Amino acid sequence: MLLQKRVILKISKTLISQKEIENKIAEIADLINSKYKGEELVVVGILKGAFIVVSDLAKQLDIDVTFDFMSIKSYYGSESSGQIKIVKDLEYDISNKNVLIVEDIYDTGLTLSNLKKLLESRNPKTIEIFCMFVKKGVSKDPTEIDYSGFEIGSDFVVGYGLDYNGKYRELPYLAVLS
Ligand code: IMP
Ligand code: MG
Repeated sequence: MLLQKRVILKISKTLISQKEIENKIAEIADLINSKYKGEELVVVGILKGAFIVVSDLAKQLDIDVTFDFMSIKSYYGSESSGQIKIVKDLEYDISNKNVLIVEDIYDTGLTLSNLKKLLESRNPKTIEIFCMFVKKGVSKDPTEIDYSGFEIGSDFVVGYGLDYNGKYRELPYLAVLS
């Protein structure tokens, strides 16, 4: 097990350290605690990538919060709008609730903008988005993101929930495969 871990570490280069990630989560948790003080919040984690962000954030929240998860698949056909398919839906009814979507990474933004539209159609009281990593790009418009962890370049990244063929999600830092 230990040996396998060493092999994984060798093929990745750290882009954002564990400490930087911890500090950022604490900073964003403070914003969320202030914003939703005295209110109820439903945190909606997007599986699988957001499972680590949600669990780290959860431990820093001191508000009235419940957690739910959704799993979606995005399709990128010739249409630029993209489509999402629900693989696992929410358990709770979010109508009239404050909803915070937590996502791992924003690349083209299609997943998040489609998901936001879908959840808005269920009439939540409010809806906000926390995305841990946001890829910079000229054709993208990440204005819909209310809390953004780190802006990164266009490299394919792994770790802190993000995978390459299902692997590397467990790394406590963000890495570029090298
Ligand atoms: P978008 O719809 O293009 O914004 O895609 C977002 C989804 O693509 C994320 O939820 C990830 O699952 C995946 N993704 C995009 N970029 C990366 C990356 O660099 N590493 C791992 N997964 C990524
Ligand atoms: Mg994802």
